[in-house]
Amino acid sequence: MTHHPQIYEGKAKILYVTDDPDVLLAYFKDDATAFNAQKRGTIVGKGEINCQIAAHLFRAIEAQGIATHYIDCPAVNEMRVKSVQIIPIEVVVRNIAAGSLCQQTGITLGTILPRPLVEFFYKNDSLGDPLLTRDRLLLMELATSAQLDILHAKAIQVNYILQNFFKLCGITLVDFKIEFGVDKQQQILLADEISPDSCRLWLTGEPDPNLRVLDKDRFRRDLGNIEDAYQQVLTRVLGVRE
Ligand code: TMP
Repeated sequence: MTHHPQIYEGKAKILYVTDDPDVLLAYFKDDATAFNAQKRGTIVGKGEINCQIAAHLFRAIEAQGIATHYIDCPAVNEMRVKSVQIIPIEVVVRNIAAGSLCQQTGITLGTILPRPLVEFFYKNDSLGDPLLTRDRLLLMELATSAQLDILHAKAIQVNYILQNFFKLCGITLVDFKIEFGVDKQQQILLADEISPDSCRLWLTGEPDPNLRVLDKDRFRRDLGNIEDAYQQVLTRVLGVRE
């Protein structure tokens, strides 16, 4: 661990400054929260597993030409990242109906969507991360119209890359949440993390709706064997050649 000052503590990570003003160190915690932190727990080994999964996925995404904040991992649960200003929008991409999409539309869980659905949520815990319309995002000046177009386009590209990547792992990418940041040069970088905390991942071909779940829904819905599921995702991700 570093002894540099902490600049931010989120629910799953702590960010520290480094000697380089353009670089931050992200420390991945074992803490897990759900339902806007109303449910709290610890997933033993999660910090290490999520850091390794995120590092691998960021490298795969970079290799396809999408800029990310990822630099490297000086330790198994630490990631050096480029310093960015996070855009407070949670960009969700869905391939299969689950979670809040089912709750808010009545679409049946597991319905394969005709095309990926991109949704923007406001990253604001006190408001409960509400789903926003494009016009509300513009009204709130959370991003410009041009930036929203870039976020949408990048989200679709990331989905394409991740879907193909997880297919090689025998995992079905149901949906996921990503965040973006703006660097000093005003470049938009994929930031935060991509892990079983922020994705819905189902074991391909597993018909049992509980057994197939390899992501944080195991924690949200008290399905048990959370550590095993996260470890299985890491093992499968590491098995894909870069
Ligand atoms: P949702 O169905 O609850 O809207 O979640 C969609 C995706 O976003 C799912 O993969 C889980 C992820 N997610 C987060 O990463 N953070 C959150 O705070 C929420 C609500 C969802």
